[in-house]
Amino acid sequence: MKAPHRSQSDEHSSVNGLPLLYQTIYCSRATAGVDEAAVANIIAAARRMNPVLGVTGLLVCGSGVFFQWIEGPRDNVMQLMDRIRADPRHEHVVTLSETEESRERLFPQWDMELVSASEIRDVLIDALDDTEDEKNTASLSLILAHLEAGGIAELGAVA
Ligand SMILES: Cc1cc2nc3c(=O)[nH]c(=O)nc-3n(C[C@H](O)[C@H](O)[C@H](O)COP(=O)(O)O)c2cc1C
Repeated sequence: MKAPHRSQSDEHSSVNGLPLLYQTIYCSRATAGVDEAAVANIIAAARRMNPVLGVTGLLVCGSGVFFQWIEGPRDNVMQLMDRIRADPRHEHVVTLSETEESRERLFPQWDMELVSASEIRDVLIDALDDTEDEKNTASLSLILAHLEAGGIAELGAVA
């Protein structure tokens, strides 16, 4: 396995001690036949690859819909997204948000955490409580507002 990119990429582009992070959030629809075992395989691949890429985030899966939050160095996230977009285990990949900012990681401990639809609200509220970064506060508040307004209702309904 190659040496981890994370510290190197983050250090090279850090501003005021904060890494320059590219963040992408998308949703997609699982293709027919994608079951729990298939999702477990996706998570296993992510946990192998993401530490090498310096990528952290979470994957929500429910009611045949994926919602994924990915953060890391720009080139690595883009390279990973090209692979994910081409993955036949899902279709209709819709990007919800893409930003690049110097800030703390939202999910520094998670190579790729699988979160159930019923847990997503609590995960976002915990992340909101933990973060001291106002940009993170703003994006988390936006996503929570979407959730509360039923914008990600399909995911919430699976709980
Ligand atoms: C919804 C979804 C999320 C995925 N998330 C990741 C991820 O975070 N990291 C990752 O390495 N692969 C992820 N994958 C798997 C990749 O698409 C790809 O299969 C994997 O990186 C292995 O790439 P390779 O087959 O080119 O070696 C995801 C796939 C799907 C369908």
